[in-house]
Amino acid sequence: MVEVLVTGGAGFIGSNFVRYALAAHPDWRVTTLDKLTYAGRRDSLRDVINHERHAFVHGDILDAALSGPLVERSNIVVHFAAETHVDRSIMAAGEFIRTDVEGTFVLLEGARRAPGLQRFVQISTDEVYGSVAAGASRETDELRPRNPYSASKAGADRLAYSYWATYNLPVIVTRASNNYGPYQFPEKVIPLFVTNAIDDLPVPLYGDGRNVRDWLHVLDHCRAIDLLIDAASNGEVYNIGGGNEVMNVDLTHRILEALGKPASLITPVPDRPGHDRRYCLDTAKLRSLGWSPRIAFDEGLRETVDWYRANEWWWRPIKEQDPRFKSYYEAQYHTRQ
Ligand code: NAD
Ligand code: TYD
Repeated sequence: MVEVLVTGGAGFIGSNFVRYALAAHPDWRVTTLDKLTYAGRRDSLRDVINHERHAFVHGDILDAALSGPLVERSNIVVHFAAETHVDRSIMAAGEFIRTDVEGTFVLLEGARRAPGLQRFVQISTDEVYGSVAAGASRETDELRPRNPYSASKAGADRLAYSYWATYNLPVIVTRASNNYGPYQFPEKVIPLFVTNAIDDLPVPLYGDGRNVRDWLHVLDHCRAIDLLIDAASNGEVYNIGGGNEVMNVDLTHRILEALGKPASLITPVPDRPGHDRRYCLDTAKLRSLGWSPRIAFDEGLRETVDWYRANEWWWRPIKEQDPRFKSYYEAQYHTRQ
């Protein structure tokens, strides 16, 4: 059996990856290590948590006594665990530096002691390139992160690379664009707007709404990681982008149309400080290995809207009962109006 450690497997992308991996690889035994922060939910793994080839470990990647032995016995590590929300990083950056940078360091130290390690996948982000005025970011471009989240991720990205360059660890780094799909925490723009609109609540659009993101369906992301585990070269960086550049205001209209809700729900709010205008990835390197996204954005967005409509059991308890969501929402939006 191939021993696979997935950190952050109770989060959005991690939970989709665990489900995907168990189905795609009958010879993989998957261990999820997750701290269950506000963003990590056992519910996101409900259908696979007791799978015979899955083990769930509740714990912190920073706890070397716990995470070290898990890494040491692994053949593959896919490291998703992170603090991920730009707006939260602007409010308080400490947890981002601890988890995203120092947490990655703890795992990499464990990897140095792992005799059977074949891959350490450092899940980075397109946000490390900073705002891209024109053209598309290539893997060799300079990193210009502009907020505490992306700066922490850039630190982890280069730290992981350094463990390949220095210790010859089998590290690869992936930089994906904005993901969307089922089980995304309802603070991020698509699930926030969908779930607010379902309840006829305002959808708070930052600034002039003309910022551009390149949307990638989470399952296309999982397929890319899977391919790279097999086909990548150690020490290399790979962009993973959906090729769907959409302005926030257009995205908002599409969501409201899919739900049959009026445009009057759109509420302009003051902009995010340092708000990156545009991200865009050149994905030629990944495509040359045989990957291309399979899910068209219109279809993926419609299915995602339908998923949130059909799965209120998953998001309503977060929005209506979790005090951590409520206090964040108050702090973030009530001061913006
Ligand atoms: P998420 O916030 O939904 O999930 C993060 C998970 O990590 C949660 O389950 C949380 O409990 C866990 N976690 C946080 N701190 C931890 C710690 N100290 N120890 C153990 N577990 C901890 O995030 P996501 O959107 O699924 O993102 C996953 C990864 O992908 C992150 O590294 C993120 O930077 C990267 N990424 C995300 C996107 C995107 O659009 N969502 C795009 C590119 C890259
Ligand atoms: P987000 O989902 O936070 O992802 P990121 O900032 O990491 O790209 O936001 C996506 C875009 O949506 C970003 O340009 C900010 C914008 N946005 C809003 O306009 N309103 C909101 O309430 C949120 C959360 C985001």
